[in-house]
Amino acid sequence: MTDEILPRIRPAIAALAPYRQGKPAGPDAFKLSSNENPFDPLPSVVEALTHITPINRYPDATAGRLRERLGARYGVRPDEVHVASGSVSILHQLILATSSVGDEVIYAWRSFEAYPSLPLVAGATGVQVPLRQVEGPNSGGRHDLDAMADAVTDRTRAIIVCTPNNPTGPIVTSAEFAAFVERVPADVLIILDEAYGEFVTAPDAVNGLEERIFERHPNVVVLRTFSKAYGLAGLRVGYAIGHEKVLDAARTTGIPLSVTSAAENAAIASLDAEAELLERVAAIVERRTVLVEGLRAQGWDVPDAQGNFVWLPTGDRTDEAAAAFVEGDLIVRPFSGDGIRISVGEHESVDKVLQVSGSIVRTLQP
Ligand SMILES: Cc1ncc(COP(=O)(O)O)c(C=O)c1O
Repeated sequence: MTDEILPRIRPAIAALAPYRQGKPAGPDAFKLSSNENPFDPLPSVVEALTHITPINRYPDATAGRLRERLGARYGVRPDEVHVASGSVSILHQLILATSSVGDEVIYAWRSFEAYPSLPLVAGATGVQVPLRQVEGPNSGGRHDLDAMADAVTDRTRAIIVCTPNNPTGPIVTSAEFAAFVERVPADVLIILDEAYGEFVTAPDAVNGLEERIFERHPNVVVLRTFSKAYGLAGLRVGYAIGHEKVLDAARTTGIPLSVTSAAENAAIASLDAEAELLERVAAIVERRTVLVEGLRAQGWDVPDAQGNFVWLPTGDRTDEAAAAFVEGDLIVRPFSGDGIRISVGEHESVDKVLQVSGSIVRTLQP
Protein backbone atom coordinates (compact mmCIF):
# COMPACT_ATOMS: atom_id res chain seq x y z
CA MET A 1 0.00 0.00 0.00
CA THR A 2 2.82 2.44 0.87
CA ASP A 3 4.23 2.35 -2.68
CA GLU A 4 0.89 3.14 -4.24
CA ILE A 5 1.00 6.11 -6.58
CA LEU A 6 -1.94 8.40 -6.13
CA PRO A 7 -2.96 11.56 -7.95
CA ARG A 8 -1.14 14.64 -6.67
CA ILE A 9 -3.24 16.53 -4.18
CA ARG A 10 -2.69 20.24 -3.51
CA PRO A 11 -0.50 20.38 -0.36
CA ALA A 12 -2.91 22.78 1.39
CA ILE A 13 -5.74 20.27 0.87
CA ALA A 14 -3.69 17.18 1.79
CA ALA A 15 -2.81 18.89 5.09
CA LEU A 16 -6.48 19.32 6.03
CA ALA A 17 -8.44 16.68 7.92
CA PRO A 18 -11.54 15.67 5.93
CA TYR A 19 -14.85 16.56 7.58
CA ARG A 20 -15.85 13.96 10.14
CA GLN A 21 -19.20 14.03 11.83
CA GLY A 22 -19.59 13.52 15.59
CA LYS A 23 -20.33 10.01 16.84
CA PRO A 24 -23.90 8.84 16.25
CA ALA A 25 -25.89 8.61 19.46
CA GLY A 26 -26.82 5.17 20.79
CA PRO A 27 -30.52 4.33 21.35
CA ASP A 28 -30.54 5.73 24.92
CA ALA A 29 -28.22 8.67 24.34
CA PHE A 30 -29.08 12.28 23.57
CA LYS A 31 -27.23 13.71 20.58
CA LEU A 32 -26.24 17.19 21.68
CA SER A 33 -23.22 17.60 19.44
CA SER A 34 -24.47 19.28 16.24
CA ASN A 35 -26.82 22.07 17.36
CA GLU A 36 -29.76 20.34 15.72
CA ASN A 37 -33.40 21.01 16.45
CA PRO A 38 -34.75 18.25 18.74
CA PHE A 39 -38.39 18.52 17.58
CA ASP A 40 -39.90 16.13 15.04
CA PRO A 41 -40.74 17.71 11.68
CA LEU A 42 -44.18 19.31 11.42
CA PRO A 43 -46.74 17.16 9.56
CA SER A 44 -47.31 20.01 7.08
CA VAL A 45 -43.60 20.05 6.23
CA VAL A 46 -43.50 16.27 5.78
CA GLU A 47 -46.59 16.54 3.58
CA ALA A 48 -44.85 19.17 1.40
CA LEU A 49 -42.13 16.63 0.67
CA THR A 50 -44.64 14.46 -1.18
CA HIS A 51 -45.47 17.24 -3.66
CA ILE A 52 -42.12 17.64 -5.33
CA THR A 53 -41.47 17.76 -9.06
CA PRO A 54 -41.02 14.21 -10.40
CA ILE A 55 -37.65 12.97 -9.25
CA ASN A 56 -36.56 12.09 -12.77
CA ARG A 57 -36.60 15.86 -13.45
CA TYR A 58 -34.05 18.41 -12.24
CA PRO A 59 -35.15 20.96 -9.65
CA ASP A 60 -35.56 24.66 -10.48
CA ALA A 61 -31.91 25.77 -10.64
CA THR A 62 -32.79 29.21 -9.31
CA ALA A 63 -34.95 28.00 -6.39
CA GLY A 64 -37.22 30.71 -7.73
CA ARG A 65 -40.30 30.09 -5.58
CA LEU A 66 -38.30 30.11 -2.36
CA ARG A 67 -36.36 33.23 -3.35
CA GLU A 68 -39.62 34.94 -4.26
CA ARG A 69 -41.08 33.97 -0.90
CA LEU A 70 -38.03 35.06 1.11
CA GLY A 71 -37.88 38.30 -0.87
CA ALA A 72 -41.50 39.05 0.08
CA ARG A 73 -40.79 38.08 3.70
CA TYR A 74 -37.85 40.49 4.00
CA GLY A 75 -38.94 43.21 1.59
CA VAL A 76 -36.18 42.65 -0.97
CA ARG A 77 -36.16 41.61 -4.63
CA PRO A 78 -35.68 37.89 -5.38
CA ASP A 79 -32.31 38.73 -6.94
CA GLU A 80 -31.21 40.03 -3.55
CA VAL A 81 -31.81 36.53 -2.14
CA HIS A 82 -29.57 33.55 -2.77
CA VAL A 83 -30.46 29.99 -1.77
CA ALA A 84 -28.03 27.07 -1.54
CA SER A 85 -27.73 23.62 -0.03
CA GLY A 86 -27.02 24.87 3.49
CA SER A 87 -25.54 28.20 4.50
CA VAL A 88 -22.13 26.51 4.68
CA SER A 89 -22.33 26.19 0.88
CA ILE A 90 -22.91 29.93 0.62
CA LEU A 91 -19.87 30.57 2.83
CA HIS A 92 -17.79 28.50 0.40
CA GLN A 93 -19.27 30.25 -2.63
CA LEU A 94 -18.62 33.73 -1.25
CA ILE A 95 -15.04 32.96 -0.22
CA LEU A 96 -14.32 31.39 -3.63
CA ALA A 97 -15.87 34.42 -5.29
CA THR A 98 -13.74 36.94 -3.39
CA SER A 99 -10.51 35.30 -2.29
CA SER A 100 -7.65 33.49 -3.96
CA VAL A 101 -3.89 33.03 -3.67
CA GLY A 102 -2.32 35.92 -1.74
CA ASP A 103 -5.66 37.13 -0.36
CA GLU A 104 -6.69 37.08 3.29
CA VAL A 105 -9.91 36.08 4.99
CA ILE A 106 -10.40 37.23 8.59
CA TYR A 107 -12.56 35.47 11.16
CA ALA A 108 -12.72 35.22 14.93
CA TRP A 109 -11.32 32.18 16.69
CA ARG A 110 -12.65 30.07 18.24
CA SER A 111 -15.67 30.11 15.98
CA PHE A 112 -17.54 27.79 13.57
CA GLU A 113 -15.24 24.85 12.80
CA ALA A 114 -15.90 25.10 9.03
CA TYR A 115 -14.30 28.56 8.76
CA PRO A 116 -10.59 27.54 8.68
CA SER A 117 -11.03 25.35 5.59
CA LEU A 118 -12.83 28.05 3.57
CA PRO A 119 -9.80 30.24 2.72
CA LEU A 120 -7.53 27.21 2.46
CA VAL A 121 -9.68 25.53 -0.17
CA ALA A 122 -9.76 28.80 -2.12
CA GLY A 123 -5.94 29.02 -1.96
CA ALA A 124 -6.19 32.10 0.28
CA THR A 125 -4.85 32.69 3.79
CA GLY A 126 -7.02 32.58 6.89
CA VAL A 127 -6.37 35.20 9.57
CA GLN A 128 -7.71 34.19 12.98
CA VAL A 129 -8.41 36.94 15.49
CA PRO A 130 -8.74 35.61 19.06
CA LEU A 131 -12.02 36.13 20.88
CA ARG A 132 -11.91 38.95 23.46
CA GLN A 133 -10.22 38.17 26.77
CA VAL A 134 -12.38 39.56 29.54
CA GLU A 135 -12.11 39.51 33.29
CA GLY A 136 -14.92 38.06 35.32
CA PRO A 137 -17.20 35.05 35.04
CA ASN A 138 -19.75 34.43 32.29
CA SER A 139 -18.40 37.18 30.07
CA GLY A 140 -15.98 35.44 27.66
CA GLY A 141 -16.34 34.13 24.13
CA ARG A 142 -17.11 37.45 22.40
CA HIS A 143 -15.83 38.74 19.07
CA ASP A 144 -13.11 41.38 19.28
CA LEU A 145 -14.30 43.53 16.40
CA ASP A 146 -11.70 46.24 17.02
CA ALA A 147 -8.93 43.70 16.68
CA MET A 148 -10.64 42.26 13.58
CA ALA A 149 -10.78 45.71 11.98
CA ASP A 150 -7.12 46.26 12.97
CA ALA A 151 -6.25 43.00 11.17
CA VAL A 152 -7.50 44.31 7.81
CA THR A 153 -4.69 44.78 5.25
CA ASP A 154 -4.74 45.62 1.56
CA ARG A 155 -4.89 41.85 0.99
CA THR A 156 -8.11 41.33 2.96
CA ARG A 157 -10.97 40.27 0.73
CA ALA A 158 -13.53 38.89 3.19
CA ILE A 159 -14.35 38.93 6.90
CA ILE A 160 -16.74 36.52 8.61
CA VAL A 161 -18.61 37.67 11.72
CA CYS A 162 -20.52 34.91 13.52
CA THR A 163 -23.35 36.06 15.79
CA PRO A 164 -24.27 34.35 18.06
CA ASN A 165 -20.82 32.84 17.97
CA ASN A 166 -20.67 29.08 17.51
CA PRO A 167 -19.47 27.50 19.81
CA THR A 168 -19.17 30.08 22.61
CA GLY A 169 -22.65 31.68 22.41
CA PRO A 170 -22.46 35.49 22.75
CA ILE A 171 -23.81 37.93 20.16
CA VAL A 172 -22.25 40.94 18.49
CA THR A 173 -24.24 44.05 19.39
CA SER A 174 -25.84 46.28 16.83
CA ALA A 175 -23.64 49.22 17.91
CA GLU A 176 -20.46 47.11 17.74
CA PHE A 177 -21.30 45.91 14.25
CA ALA A 178 -22.19 49.39 13.00
CA ALA A 179 -18.86 50.77 14.24
CA PHE A 180 -17.03 47.80 12.69
CA VAL A 181 -18.64 48.23 9.27
CA GLU A 182 -17.59 51.90 9.27
CA ARG A 183 -13.97 50.86 9.83
CA VAL A 184 -13.82 48.17 7.11
CA PRO A 185 -13.06 49.35 3.55
CA ALA A 186 -16.18 49.27 1.37
CA ASP A 187 -14.57 46.86 -1.11
CA VAL A 188 -14.07 44.12 1.52
CA LEU A 189 -16.92 41.61 1.84
CA ILE A 190 -18.37 41.23 5.36
CA ILE A 191 -20.33 38.00 5.87
CA LEU A 192 -22.66 38.28 8.84
CA ASP A 193 -23.30 34.64 9.74
CA GLU A 194 -26.58 34.58 11.65
CA ALA A 195 -27.19 30.81 11.49
CA TYR A 196 -28.66 30.97 15.02
CA GLY A 197 -30.36 34.37 14.63
CA GLU A 198 -33.86 33.12 15.54
CA PHE A 199 -32.72 32.02 19.02
CA VAL A 200 -31.37 35.44 20.01
CA THR A 201 -33.12 37.21 22.88
CA ALA A 202 -30.50 39.89 23.71
CA PRO A 203 -32.21 43.20 22.90
CA ASP A 204 -29.01 44.90 21.74
CA ALA A 205 -27.98 42.12 19.30
CA VAL A 206 -27.29 42.97 15.69
CA ASN A 207 -29.98 41.66 13.33
CA GLY A 208 -28.76 42.01 9.78
CA LEU A 209 -32.17 41.42 8.24
CA GLU A 210 -34.29 43.66 10.48
CA GLU A 211 -31.69 46.42 10.37
CA ARG A 212 -31.34 46.03 6.58
CA ILE A 213 -27.62 46.71 6.87
CA PHE A 214 -26.99 45.41 3.33
CA GLU A 215 -28.97 48.38 1.95
CA ARG A 216 -26.62 50.97 3.44
CA HIS A 217 -23.53 48.78 3.05
CA PRO A 218 -23.52 46.68 -0.14
CA ASN A 219 -20.42 44.86 1.13
CA VAL A 220 -22.49 43.20 3.91
CA VAL A 221 -24.20 39.86 3.18
CA VAL A 222 -26.41 38.25 5.84
CA LEU A 223 -26.53 34.44 6.08
CA ARG A 224 -29.42 32.46 7.56
CA THR A 225 -30.32 28.79 7.51
CA PHE A 226 -33.33 26.49 7.70
CA SER A 227 -31.17 23.91 9.52
CA LYS A 228 -31.47 25.19 13.08
CA ALA A 229 -34.63 27.07 14.11
CA TYR A 230 -36.67 25.51 11.27
CA GLY A 231 -35.39 21.98 11.86
CA LEU A 232 -34.46 21.12 8.25
CA ALA A 233 -30.79 20.21 8.80
CA GLY A 234 -31.20 16.92 6.92
CA LEU A 235 -32.56 18.62 3.81
CA ARG A 236 -29.74 21.20 3.46
CA VAL A 237 -31.12 24.62 2.69
CA GLY A 238 -29.79 28.03 3.68
CA TYR A 239 -29.98 31.54 2.25
CA ALA A 240 -28.21 34.85 1.94
CA ILE A 241 -29.60 38.35 1.61
CA GLY A 242 -27.46 41.08 0.16
CA HIS A 243 -26.50 43.04 -2.95
CA GLU A 244 -27.57 41.35 -6.19
CA LYS A 245 -24.09 41.59 -7.76
CA VAL A 246 -22.38 40.06 -4.72
CA LEU A 247 -24.91 37.23 -4.68
CA ASP A 248 -24.49 36.76 -8.45
CA ALA A 249 -20.83 36.02 -7.71
CA ALA A 250 -21.89 33.36 -5.19
CA ARG A 251 -24.33 31.93 -7.75
CA THR A 252 -21.42 31.73 -10.21
CA THR A 253 -19.08 29.80 -7.93
CA GLY A 254 -21.84 27.50 -6.60
CA ILE A 255 -22.51 24.06 -8.02
CA PRO A 256 -25.70 24.41 -10.09
CA LEU A 257 -28.85 22.53 -9.15
CA SER A 258 -27.73 21.57 -5.66
CA VAL A 259 -30.91 22.76 -3.92
CA THR A 260 -33.34 19.87 -4.35
CA SER A 261 -37.07 20.26 -4.97
CA ALA A 262 -37.66 18.56 -1.63
CA ALA A 263 -35.55 21.12 0.20
CA GLU A 264 -37.23 24.04 -1.57
CA ASN A 265 -40.72 22.68 -0.83
CA ALA A 266 -39.94 22.01 2.82
CA ALA A 267 -38.47 25.49 3.26
CA ILE A 268 -41.60 27.10 1.79
CA ALA A 269 -43.83 24.91 4.00
CA SER A 270 -41.72 25.97 6.99
CA LEU A 271 -42.26 29.63 6.17
CA ASP A 272 -46.01 28.85 6.01
CA ALA A 273 -45.74 27.34 9.49
CA GLU A 274 -43.39 29.96 10.86
CA ALA A 275 -45.48 30.89 13.90
CA GLU A 276 -45.63 27.26 15.01
CA LEU A 277 -41.90 26.78 14.45
CA LEU A 278 -41.07 29.92 16.39
CA GLU A 279 -43.06 28.53 19.35
CA ARG A 280 -40.62 25.63 19.30
CA VAL A 281 -37.74 28.09 19.22
CA ALA A 282 -39.24 29.75 22.32
CA ALA A 283 -39.36 26.34 24.05
CA ILE A 284 -35.69 25.78 23.21
CA VAL A 285 -34.84 29.23 24.55
CA GLU A 286 -36.65 28.37 27.82
CA ARG A 287 -34.60 25.17 28.12
CA ARG A 288 -31.47 27.17 27.37
CA THR A 289 -32.26 29.49 30.29
CA VAL A 290 -32.75 26.54 32.65
CA LEU A 291 -29.47 25.04 31.45
CA VAL A 292 -27.42 28.23 31.73
CA GLU A 293 -28.82 29.15 35.15
CA GLY A 294 -28.31 25.59 36.41
CA LEU A 295 -24.72 25.45 35.14
CA ARG A 296 -23.85 28.84 36.61
CA ALA A 297 -25.42 27.86 39.95
CA GLN A 298 -23.10 24.83 39.94
CA GLY A 299 -20.15 27.20 39.54
CA TRP A 300 -19.48 26.89 35.81
CA ASP A 301 -18.25 29.92 33.90
CA VAL A 302 -20.81 29.98 31.05
CA PRO A 303 -20.66 32.81 28.48
CA ASP A 304 -23.93 34.41 27.42
CA ALA A 305 -25.74 31.68 25.44
CA GLN A 306 -27.75 33.20 22.57
CA GLY A 307 -27.88 30.22 20.20
CA ASN A 308 -29.31 26.73 20.78
CA PHE A 309 -26.18 25.61 22.66
CA VAL A 310 -24.08 26.37 25.74
CA TRP A 311 -20.30 26.49 26.17
CA LEU A 312 -18.28 25.06 29.03
CA PRO A 313 -14.69 26.36 29.07
CA THR A 314 -13.09 23.13 30.32
CA GLY A 315 -9.60 24.00 28.97
CA ASP A 316 -7.06 21.19 29.22
CA ARG A 317 -9.59 19.00 31.06
CA THR A 318 -11.90 18.97 28.03
CA ASP A 319 -11.35 15.35 26.99
CA GLU A 320 -11.99 14.09 30.53
CA ALA A 321 -15.13 16.20 30.84
CA ALA A 322 -16.43 15.01 27.45
CA ALA A 323 -15.82 11.40 28.52
CA ALA A 324 -17.96 12.00 31.62
CA PHE A 325 -20.81 13.29 29.44
CA VAL A 326 -20.52 10.30 27.09
CA GLU A 327 -20.57 8.03 30.16
CA GLY A 328 -23.88 9.74 31.05
CA ASP A 329 -25.28 8.96 27.55
CA LEU A 330 -24.84 12.52 26.36
CA ILE A 331 -23.03 13.06 23.07
CA VAL A 332 -21.50 16.54 23.28
CA ARG A 333 -18.97 18.37 21.06
CA PRO A 334 -15.54 18.66 22.70
CA PHE A 335 -12.88 21.01 21.32
CA SER A 336 -9.78 19.49 22.84
CA GLY A 337 -7.80 21.87 25.05
CA ASP A 338 -10.52 24.52 24.90
CA GLY A 339 -14.07 23.63 25.88
CA ILE A 340 -17.26 21.70 25.28
CA ARG A 341 -20.31 22.79 23.31
CA ILE A 342 -23.61 21.25 24.39
CA SER A 343 -26.70 21.71 22.25
CA VAL A 344 -30.03 22.49 23.89
CA GLY A 345 -31.92 19.35 23.02
CA GLU A 346 -34.88 17.32 24.21
CA HIS A 347 -36.64 18.42 27.41
CA GLU A 348 -35.35 15.35 29.29
CA SER A 349 -31.78 16.01 28.22
CA VAL A 350 -31.57 19.23 30.25
CA ASP A 351 -31.67 17.49 33.64
CA LYS A 352 -29.27 14.83 32.44
CA VAL A 353 -26.74 17.47 31.37
CA LEU A 354 -27.07 19.21 34.73
CA GLN A 355 -26.59 15.91 36.59
CA VAL A 356 -23.30 15.19 34.82
CA SER A 357 -22.07 18.79 34.91
CA GLY A 358 -22.83 18.95 38.63
CA SER A 359 -20.87 15.81 39.31
CA ILE A 360 -17.74 17.01 37.49
CA VAL A 361 -17.69 20.76 38.14
CA ARG A 362 -15.22 20.72 41.02
CA THR A 363 -12.85 18.22 39.49
CA LEU A 364 -12.93 19.28 35.87
CA GLN A 365 -13.19 23.05 35.69
CA PRO A 366 -9.72 24.51 35.13
C1 LIG B 1 -22.24 29.48 12.59
C2 LIG B 1 -22.73 28.52 11.57
N1 LIG B 1 -22.85 28.94 10.32
C3 LIG B 1 -23.30 28.12 9.35
C4 LIG B 1 -23.64 26.81 9.64
C5 LIG B 1 -24.07 25.94 8.50
O1 LIG B 1 -25.36 25.53 8.59
P1 LIG B 1 -26.10 24.88 7.33
O2 LIG B 1 -25.06 24.60 6.29
O3 LIG B 1 -26.73 23.65 7.86
O4 LIG B 1 -27.07 25.92 6.86
C6 LIG B 1 -23.53 26.33 10.94
C7 LIG B 1 -23.87 24.93 11.25
O5 LIG B 1 -23.63 24.40 12.29
C8 LIG B 1 -23.06 27.21 11.93
O6 LIG B 1 -22.90 26.80 13.20
